[in-house]
Amino acid sequence: MDNLEKLLEKAANKLKAAKRVVVLTGAGVSAESGIPTFRDAQVGLWEKYDPAELASPDGFQANPKLVWDWYEYRREIVRNNKPNPAHFALVELEKKLPSVVIVTQNVDEYHRSAGNKNILELHGRIMENRCFKEGRLLKENELNHSSIPPRCHCGSYVRPGVVWFGEALPSNTLSEAFTHARNCDVCLVIGTAGVVQPAASVPYYAQQSKAFLIEVNNLPSALTSIMNVFLQGKAGEILPKLINLI
Ligand code: OAD
Repeated sequence: MDNLEKLLEKAANKLKAAKRVVVLTGAGVSAESGIPTFRDAQVGLWEKYDPAELASPDGFQANPKLVWDWYEYRREIVRNNKPNPAHFALVELEKKLPSVVIVTQNVDEYHRSAGNKNILELHGRIMENRCFKEGRLLKENELNHSSIPPRCHCGSYVRPGVVWFGEALPSNTLSEAFTHARNCDVCLVIGTAGVVQPAASVPYYAQQSKAFLIEVNNLPSALTSIMNVFLQGKAGEILPKLINLI
């Protein structure tokens, strides 16, 4: 049995015995669906832009059309692709174990469309629209498309319903995620560089509560050093193997 198989077995045994599992996912879980990650180099016309600038209130105010077009470009990618085996493996995990909570940084809603039920979306949803001024969620028929970005009936621009750099995360969602992390037996961290706070604190709360920490990533991340098991590889390949052992 090679080293990876031994590690898979060790991780599967911990998951099998777990009463409460928290799964933290990042862009790497959707990479094999064709959704670019944030640390991948931007491609095409977006190559010359820094995502951190585009995904920010200042970036939007400085150039609303550019930012809106960037999100429309990303929405199109999400629409034209679909969940991959990594997402479906997590649906199986939720079915097999007594309590699994998916805490995701992703805005593509692929965990929901794959079939997971217990999901906490820390960074919002890319398909949703909000009034830039009031923050209110807007229905499609409330958007005035006579400009780009569209406008809300209050006259302000419409913005995507995602959390931007420098903005607070939905507080209830975040505190719920931390509570689950403090009370879990196993924390499974998948496809995140682990560099964006406060999401990256989830595994540390789990560690403080003596949970067993497992990471799936094709490369070491900022979180790998605190892991009990590091399963190096693509999420779409590792997760089905891992869940099949449970
Ligand atoms: P990143 O793009 O920072 O990191 C993606 C991680 O996934 C890296 O560690 C990659 O090595 C790993 N990865 C890539 N392909 C993979 C694969 N096929 N299988 C497994 N791992 C793979 O994305 P996040 O860490 O999710 O925030 O970024 C966190 C946040 O930063 C995002 O939610 C976003 C961004 O700014 C907001 O939009 C607020």
